[in-house]
Amino acid sequence: MVNGKSTMSRPERKHKIKDLTDIPGVGPATAQKLREAGFYSLEAIAIASPEEIAGISGISTSAAQRIIATAREALELGFKTADVIYKERLSVGRISTGSRNLDRLLGGGVETKSITEFYGEFGTGKTQICHQLCVNVQLPRDRGGLEGTAIYIDCEGTFRPERIVAMAKATGLEPQQALKNIVYARAYNSDHQMLLTEQAKEIIEEKGNVRLLIVDSVTSHFRAEYPGREVLAVRQQKLNRHLHTLTRIADIYDIAIVITNQVMARPDVFWGDAIVAVGGHVLAHVPGARVYLRKLKGNKRIARLVDSPYLPEGEATFVITDDGIRDE
Ligand code: GTP
Ligand code: MG
Repeated sequence: MVNGKSTMSRPERKHKIKDLTDIPGVGPATAQKLREAGFYSLEAIAIASPEEIAGISGISTSAAQRIIATAREALELGFKTADVIYKERLSVGRISTGSRNLDRLLGGGVETKSITEFYGEFGTGKTQICHQLCVNVQLPRDRGGLEGTAIYIDCEGTFRPERIVAMAKATGLEPQQALKNIVYARAYNSDHQMLLTEQAKEIIEEKGNVRLLIVDSVTSHFRAEYPGREVLAVRQQKLNRHLHTLTRIADIYDIAIVITNQVMARPDVFWGDAIVAVGGHVLAHVPGARVYLRKLKGNKRIARLVDSPYLPEGEATFVITDDGIRDE
């Protein structure tokens, strides 16, 4: 070490850095402070902001920047060639929705490393789909699962464990175990929702097998707390930050993020689709698939893929049954 900088060459250093204390500039005291604040791993450091790290550990922002850069380098988060990206894309996990039609529309199911948004009017099945995914993520891969667990951030108080029990039974999972594999928290306001998202990172680090994170619904608190045009900018800014955190979690930990969203009528649109998702263009700029749900007759629903980065637009129908989400 010379002037606090490593004298090792880059590739050499990359393989030597496995833990916080391996990072040049992170001594035992700093590591201790970071761990106490929930930053246990290189992944957590890599996705933190310099201000966050500086605030927690008392080091300068520029030192924090270097630490973050080293963690990212160790995790190979910088430039890569396209063949490496291609290989990574092939390893993306998919969780079945319970409906083959809907899975096909999504290119095989809800993807890890990305955000999928289900939006639509009340009763269109957004929450039921969230429940079903929490069950299905636990299934073996050949049955549409990832043998993983789920985290559920419930912003509306509509999570029902008895639905999990019913869906688990219907798929042949042991209901009590299925419930244990879902970590649940009720978010009481938008700040709490954002805090829970931060805490979700810790759970993900500790458990290791979390493959799904639900936020149902992502916009309801923001919408209630920041009504009206004069606070729109603040709302969008906060929402943007929240979505940014979610995007990073998806990417770093290989997790499928599923968010739901209500719709509202746009008074300024006179033709075309006058129904838009709440949050507008902030959500539109988050990478991932957006699925618009509408009611058909009875328990039948139609899903339209609106904004996938690589899948063609299309539609699929499914039904909501006592057993969960199914094809007709
Ligand atoms: P909001 O959160 O109000 O915007 O609606 P949502 O889109 O989340 O709707 P949700 O997923 O709650 O879907 C409600 C639909 O699922 C209703 O049509 C219910 O009839 C149906 N549903 C809920 N539970 C059951 C059940 O146990 N059995 C059956 N067959 N249908 C159910
Ligand atoms: Mg709902």
